[in-house]
Amino acid sequence: MIPFNHLGWIFKTFGSTVYPKEVRQELCTFLKSLSLNANVLDVGAGTGMMCEFAHVCREDLTLVAVDPAEGMLKFSPSYVTTYQASAEALPFDVDSFDVLLMGESLHHFRDIDVALDEAVRVLKDKGKLFIYDFNVNTFMGKSICRGEKLLGEPGNFFEPELLKDKLTNYGFTVNIKEYAWRYTISAVLDKK
Ligand SMILES: C[S@@+](CC[C@H](N)C(=O)[O-])C[C@H]1O[C@@H](n2cnc3c(N)ncnc32)[C@H](O)[C@@H]1O
Repeated sequence: MIPFNHLGWIFKTFGSTVYPKEVRQELCTFLKSLSLNANVLDVGAGTGMMCEFAHVCREDLTLVAVDPAEGMLKFSPSYVTTYQASAEALPFDVDSFDVLLMGESLHHFRDIDVALDEAVRVLKDKGKLFIYDFNVNTFMGKSICRGEKLLGEPGNFFEPELLKDKLTNYGFTVNIKEYAWRYTISAVLDKK
């Protein structure tokens, strides 16, 4: 297991370097169409890095962060409301959020199907999902996956096209962008 509870200051200091500038720009574009004060949930938020990026793009957004590691959450900015919880058991009502963010966190979820069931439950109809993760179909992605599995992590890395198929089965319309060994998914949920 990676001891995230003790790594908060490292992620707070260096975490942003994992996100290419293009990905942050894409996130801003993705957030542009949201209504004023839209509700955004960062799942596996760690120190709230994705929330920080979102806040730079749109100061009006209502930002909520969920992570099992209190030692990560405590480094979140004051404008983020934090909950210690896992993606597989989100402490929110049905249709609570306009947007879900998952920044290099999906591959840490122990049960992807349960986490996606939860994502769909708390997202509103026509709600949006933004994922940033590492492509297991690349040398770097494979190496990170192997390394994490050696550390006892689930290593639930995807090839983007396979994740697209999975999300489509959950009712999402999915758009993939690749950035060398990393990728983003922006998706819209149709609940009907
Ligand atoms: C690599 S960090 C990424 C944190 C943050 N999103 C960022 O981009 O800096 C992965 C995070 O996933 C969290 N995590 C692990 N298992 C989780 C689960 N089942 N549900 C939600 N988050 C989880 C970890 O505690 C950790 O904070």
